[in-house]
Amino acid sequence: MFRDSTILITGGTGSWGTALTKLLLEQWSPRQLRIYSRSEAAQVLLRRQLNDDRRVRFVIGDVRDPERLTQAAQGVDTIFHLAALKHVPVCEENPFEAVKTNVLGTQYVIDAALACGVKRVIDVSSDKAASPLNLYGTTKSIGEKLIVSANNLSTTTAFICVRAGNVLGTAGSVVPLFRSQVLHRNLVTVTDPEMTRFFLNVRDVIGMILEVPQHAVGGEIFILEMPAMRIGDLAEVMARRLGNETTATTVIGKRPGEKTHEILVSADESERTYRFGRFMVLLPMIHIPRVEERYDRTALERVDFVDFSSSMARRLDAAEIEAMLRRERWLDRSPLPSDTAVPFEALASPFSTEGWGPQP
Ligand SMILES: NC(=O)c1ccc[n+]([C@@H]2O[C@H](COP(=O)([O-])OP(=O)(O)OC[C@H]3O[C@@H](n4cnc5c(N)ncnc54)[C@H](OP(=O)(O)O)[C@@H]3O)[C@@H](O)[C@H]2O)c1
Repeated sequence: MFRDSTILITGGTGSWGTALTKLLLEQWSPRQLRIYSRSEAAQVLLRRQLNDDRRVRFVIGDVRDPERLTQAAQGVDTIFHLAALKHVPVCEENPFEAVKTNVLGTQYVIDAALACGVKRVIDVSSDKAASPLNLYGTTKSIGEKLIVSANNLSTTTAFICVRAGNVLGTAGSVVPLFRSQVLHRNLVTVTDPEMTRFFLNVRDVIGMILEVPQHAVGGEIFILEMPAMRIGDLAEVMARRLGNETTATTVIGKRPGEKTHEILVSADESERTYRFGRFMVLLPMIHIPRVEERYDRTALERVDFVDFSSSMARRLDAAEIEAMLRRERWLDRSPLPSDTAVPFEALASPFSTEGWGPQP
């Protein structure tokens, strides 16, 4: 599907975008990858790391700029739409900026794909889009709806959503934060130790994202089943392995917009959610002819939970958390190549994703 094709990645310099770019180059021999983002410095850095000017083109652009997006989408077969404002507090504090990037930006990606006859668009959404509490989740939920309904605007472009929980160690996330706190201040600040979050390694998530378009017709939301961890357990492992017996843990309370447990599938959605190999697939509320042709809802196995939250998912124990962290070198005391992005070394062999569904 991706071999010899031209692929546009919005947000290609981000944590997921970097990993996706690397995996596509390694395993799929694309003809050309176009990395679309705003920061010149981030593009220069990634360009040096990849060192592949023959296949990778860097395009400075904003997803809020429809004309630039349409230029970038010329001759493109697949768009991976990753560009977003993704930090919950930042979106709470700058609500309309989040709307402009995450909502308008997604619509402009749709428009550019339609104008340029792109074959498929894969939009990356978040567990925070299910029963959203915060503005980030709300914008991702609207993004999902825009993408799903775009399937009725074209018979030739498939618009697909992938909903996922957290990737370990992405830019600005809790793992680099805890690491830096332990190493530099000998303490960890935990919002709420009882909080749980879905977590996977970057390679596993990107591997699943690359698999989704092989199954999708457009109109579905593919949901990645992921195990969960208790934030208190994560803090404890990091404090124990990176710090010493004097490392302190301070509870600072939840930030605005944060849930105690994330929801991957809400109660309303579970009525339309089915098992699909190692994924779950959420079928649309609206009528999309290609979805109805592809899926016989009566023959599919519907999920047997009311809703699926991170409190019900298989809970990673301390040894598993430690193993995940070690795989990506987050427990190394020596400086990482970058303490703010998933290191390239993280792209190691994948974990098995068997059996991460809801636990009885
Ligand atoms: N991180 C997670 O654990 C997680 C979980 C679930 C879903 N997701 C979703 O996965 C996607 C990627 O997340 P990530 O962790 O890789 O984010 P990230 O590291 O913050 O990267 C965001 C990327 O988007 C670009 N970007 C931001 N605003 C833009 C704009 N207006 N126009 C063009 N490019 C823009 C950024 O580059 P510039 O700033 O240079 O433009 C960067 O390349 C997001 O859609 C996020 O919602 C992430």
